[in-house]
Amino acid sequence: MEKIIIFDTTLRDGEQAPGAALNSLQKLEVAGQLERLGVDIIEAGFPVASPDDFAAVSQIAKAIRKSGVCALARCIPKDIEKAGASLRKAKKPRIHLFLATSKIHLKYKFRKAEDEIEDIAKVSIRQAGKFCPDIEFSPEDATRTERDFLFRMIEMAINEGAKTINIPDTVGYSYPQEIFSLIEDIKNNVPNIEKAIIATHCHNDLGLATANSISAVLAGARQVHCTINGIGERAGNASLEEIVMALKTRKDIFGGFYTGIDTKEIFRTSRLVSNLTNFVIPPNKAIVGSNAFAHESGIHQDAVLKNRTTYEIMDPKEVGISSSRLILGKHSGRHAFGDRLKSLGFHLNDEQLNKAFIRFKEVADKKKDIFDDDLRTIVEDEISVIKPLWQLSGFEVTSGTKIKPEARVVLIKKSKNVSGVSSGDGPVDACFKAIDKITGYKVKLEDFRLEAVTSGKDALGQVSLKLKIGNSIYSGRGSSTDIIEAAIRAYLDSVNRIESK
Ligand code: KIV
Ligand code: ZN
Repeated sequence: MEKIIIFDTTLRDGEQAPGAALNSLQKLEVAGQLERLGVDIIEAGFPVASPDDFAAVSQIAKAIRKSGVCALARCIPKDIEKAGASLRKAKKPRIHLFLATSKIHLKYKFRKAEDEIEDIAKVSIRQAGKFCPDIEFSPEDATRTERDFLFRMIEMAINEGAKTINIPDTVGYSYPQEIFSLIEDIKNNVPNIEKAIIATHCHNDLGLATANSISAVLAGARQVHCTINGIGERAGNASLEEIVMALKTRKDIFGGFYTGIDTKEIFRTSRLVSNLTNFVIPPNKAIVGSNAFAHESGIHQDAVLKNRTTYEIMDPKEVGISSSRLILGKHSGRHAFGDRLKSLGFHLNDEQLNKAFIRFKEVADKKKDIFDDDLRTIVEDEISVIKPLWQLSGFEVTSGTKIKPEARVVLIKKSKNVSGVSSGDGPVDACFKAIDKITGYKVKLEDFRLEAVTSGKDALGQVSLKLKIGNSIYSGRGSSTDIIEAAIRAYLDSVNRIESK
């Protein structure tokens, strides 16, 4: 059996997805969960990008002991110094250097010749080696790079001490057979390739990231870059859960590969990342979408009840999805509530548990049956690591076909009530405008989505939205059995994110 090294870049490439920005506390929380999940290397960020990124990588480097911690750097001295400094406290540090090598990037991005690029990379690898012994080098846009130049760059990088050579399909242009032969060609044409591990980093612009990553593994790559829920630049990166479960489920054809991932932690990690980034997981997303293990048609339901394997190729429990549906109601006590949360994988401190229990009781008063998904939503809302400056105290709306909707919203700021009144195009718009009057922010609503968390007339509604202020986008999420309240909570979540930044 051969191990496939899982290099998770949720906190770096994943966080580059527009609107997915996380603060350093949130990154630390994700890193802890990635370690529990069993990823081998956590790419924690791009330290030169901002003081926040530097702080996040440094904190993760200090806290994480089992997984390796990696910092990204361009082939620029200042980047390398920052990356090295951010990793000072790491137990297993790695610097990931990248430099584009394709003709298109050399001509338009750098206006440099191949020889100059080779020299820059050489000097940079030497400099990075002074900070840490574990260097990974990525010839960016490798899949669109002229073969001979790519071989030359890889050979030089290994000679200079790079231990891992990553082959990025930066623009998601490749297809499975193509990346297979590229890796084969690298193995056959780079004389010192045996001294390094080949990695792959596939983007999903054509929806082929997972297939391309697996194809690279079959050709000889032994490390894959991936992200939770496949988040990342543009259409995203190869998704960790898809690669890991494909290798596990199709052992029959992929043969002797294994990963160090504890697959039972997959669903929990997926929810955490979705919750903190406010990137909603599409219901049909492989492995972690809400429909991934749901059966609607009568024929399918009947067959699954007779034998699950008729329409399920994986057991949901393998990825941490419990099959039990119905759980608590308004008569349930704090103990049962806490126990149930533990079995769903939440590790709450007393303060978080109290807050979540109060909210649970409020919801249970309005909703007869509380399902696992309701519980997750309630808890995720309440345990946000962002300390909210603004909290909802109450609201009133008047609306109808013949009157202009009006809202009065009361918020709590530092234990004091502040209220705002406004009319609007609809009751939700009126509430948002009333909040704007209180906070004084000039924000633009960029996106608004409402979905039911579970089924039934009393289902919990969840609103996800995005607010734009200046050039930055902040997402927010809120839930309630009342959809106007859910919208207000989501709006406040977003406003509080603006405050916390
Ligand atoms: O997509 C890419 O090429 C990257 C590099 C930094 C590896 O993210
Ligand atoms: Zn990338």
